[in-house]
Order: sequence, then C-alpha cells, then structure tokens
Amino acid sequence: MADLYLARARTDLGAARLVAIKEVVPRLARDPRFVAMLASEAKLAAGLRHASIVQVEDLGREDGALFIAMEYVEGLDLRELLRRCARQRVKLPVAFSLLIVVEALQALAYAHRKGVVHRDVSPSNVLLSFEGEIKLCDFGIARAHEGSEAPLSDVLQGKAGYMSPEQARGEPPDVRSDVFATGILLWELLAGRRMYSVSGGASLSKEDARDELLELARRAVIPPLPERGLPDEVFLHGIVSRALAASPDDRYPSAAAMLRDLAAYAAAADLTASPLRFGAWLRDNFGAEMVSARRARERAVRALELGPPAVLEPVARPAAPLVPLAPLVPLAPLVPLAPRVRSAPLTPSEPAHPSPWPKAPRSLTRPRRRALPPRLARCAQLLAFFALCAIVCFLATR
Ligand SMILES: Nc1ncnc2c1ncn2[C@@H]1O[C@H](COP(=O)(O)OP(=O)(O)OP(=O)(O)O)[C@@H](O)[C@H]1O
Ligand SMILES: [Mg+2]
Repeated sequence: MADLYLARARTDLGAARLVAIKEVVPRLARDPRFVAMLASEAKLAAGLRHASIVQVEDLGREDGALFIAMEYVEGLDLRELLRRCARQRVKLPVAFSLLIVVEALQALAYAHRKGVVHRDVSPSNVLLSFEGEIKLCDFGIARAHEGSEAPLSDVLQGKAGYMSPEQARGEPPDVRSDVFATGILLWELLAGRRMYSVSGGASLSKEDARDELLELARRAVIPPLPERGLPDEVFLHGIVSRALAASPDDRYPSAAAMLRDLAAYAAAADLTASPLRFGAWLRDNFGAEMVSARRARERAVRALELGPPAVLEPVARPAAPLVPLAPLVPLAPLVPLAPRVRSAPLTPSEPAHPSPWPKAPRSLTRPRRRALPPRLARCAQLLAFFALCAIVCFLATR
C-alpha cells in the first residue's frame, strides 16, 4: 500500500531521532472511505504502547499525499531474514524462532486487551532490530483496506498466504484470526518453508496464484509438520495444531492463551533465548550488510539536510504528542532526493513557527561556510598579533 521513507524527527529540545514514513499510494489516499478508516485505525494504533509494537507517531497529508509516521526499526523484517537465511544457508536456531513468535504473541495479547485486532500478521510485518528487538507493525491498516473501495484483489495482495479461513471467506475477523496467522508463522519457522504453496509455480499469473492461495486459505488444510527431533515435539506440534484449527471455536481463544503454552514449552524444553543473544546472532550473520546500508543512509541524510522541507498537515491526532518531522530520505540506500516534509505545528492552538529554512533553497552541491573552532581562532589571533609586533619592531629599528 505504500512507499517507505526514512526521516529525522526533531524535538523542541533540539534532539533528533529517525522515524519511518509510509506514503499511502495516491489511489488509496484519494479514497475518502479509506482515509477515514485509516485515520481511525491510526488513532487506535497510536494509543498502543508496548516494547514489541512499532510505535505510530502521526498521520499527515502533504499536497494530497497521505503519510503515516512511525518508530524506525533498524534491522530487517522476518520475511527478509528467512530469505537471507535460505540464500546464505544460515540456520535459524529453534530458540530464536520461538522467541520471535513469543514476542509477537506478547504484542498481540496486549493489543487484544486494548480491543485492537491486527488482521495482517505476516512475516513482513514482524520487524527485527539489530539490537534483538522483535516488533509487530501495521496494526489495523488491513481494516482500512477492507473499508476502501479498492477491488478485493488489491486488498488481498500478498496476504492470502497468512489468512484465517474465515478471513479468506470475507467474514469479519476477530482476535482468533490473529492467532491463526501467528500459527502459520510458527509452522513456517519450524518447517523452514511456506505453509501454503501454489502448485503452478512461476508459470502462474499473480492473480491466479493469489486465487489459489485464497482457496487454500478457505479450506485450511494444514500440511503435517516435519519432525526435527526437538524435546517433547508432540506437545509443540499440538500448540501449532490448536492455533491452526479451521473453526475459530476450536482455536486458542486469545493470543494470551497461546502465549502461555508456547512460553511454557520453550522453558520446559530449554529452548529459551534472550533478545540480547538474538541481536548478537543477527549482527554476526548479517552485520556487514547492515553497516554498509547504515553508511549509505547517513550520507543521504546529510545531503538532504541542506534541502528545504515542506509541510505535513495532520488529518488525525494520535494520543501521543506529535513531533516535527525533518527531511525525508527513501530507505533504499543512496537515493538522496526524496520528497521532504516537516510536520505541522504540534497543536492547532500553537503559534506558527518562523520558517526554519532559508527563502532561497541552498544548492545541495554548494559547500557550507564553517566557523573556525574556538581554539584555532585563538591561535590565529595570537599569530596575527605577533606578526604585527614583528613588523612594528622592524620598522622602528630602521
Ligand atoms: N517502522 C519501520 N521501520 C523499519 N522498516 C520498516 C518499518 N515499517 C516497514 N518497514 C520495512 O518496509 C517493508 C515494507 O513495508 P510495507 O508495510 O509497506 O509492506 P508489507 O509489510 O510487505 O505489506 P503489508 O504491511 O501491507 O502487509 C517492510 O517489510 C519492512 O521491511
Ligand atoms: Mg507492512
């Protein structure tokens, strides 16, 4: 639904931190039903505060474009991690797989207590930071899609493989749909492959592949999990089967109930892991790529600091205080010229700030004038003074 950008948010104290900005595709941004639904969902999501949930900061508009600003998680998403593991033949330890699902369940249990259903639990919405944090993002955005006038095929893009049967039939999902989708995550992490796969492979068109996935999701025929020789594996497979029951009534009634069983299994089987260890493992295996991506981003951020920002008009006010947003940089490395935004004033009653950027935009290539550091300036002054004395003495002696 969106392009993703990296931006710098500055607080009134002058501190800066990175935020991720999602730009909603123009077709959806023009759909009033979608915008209204997104505003109400973003408001709910902004009220969620949990270590395993990506914090939503703001929803805003600029020149008709719609943006969601959220906490930036430096790392990779679960889909990307699984891809890299397969490509580089790195095995993801079972303890880390269980940690990922346990953290996702903690996030869901909290959101469910607050009355929020995610509706789109899938590997690309599980973000993994290089510090070892595991965070679920995009709460409720799927609901905004459901409220839009977009064709069903667009709404279901890429999601069918993680849908509960009732969701695939178009019925309104409840917390047990999130349990089902988390069951698919666990199944795939334990099996090391996708749970639903289409038979036609690469020869199928995107639409046909999606229809086939949807049909698989409606039927909910769960393939058996391969045995991996884990301690008390029957119990673990039992947890997966209960999460993936076709009828919602036979499933875990909540994420909290599934969490209790999975955490108990991990402890009993001695398969627990800390985020600290997970972060170290991520850095050991994928750290080199992280460093080059970070350097490219920092170069792009520095380049964009010289450009003029624009204005974001808030269309929904989250519960949390809003922060001004600085120039945007696309997450792709080394693309220095992206749209730039600055958030609107913190509250409508606040006086307008004087423009913080020069009237004529400074050229990106023009070097900045820099003042000498104080110590160097003092030395220069002393040298000039001695030179003057020497000249005076020289002239006096002649
Ligand atoms: N807050 C964030 N911080 C860092 N990276 C993010 C953040 N949000 C999203 N991303 C990255 O951007 C990618 C694209 O996100 P986006 O939500 O647009 O697509 P998606 O997750 O594949 O689809 P959808 O959320 O609609 O199911 C994510 O997979 C993730 O790698
Ligand atoms: Mg997403």
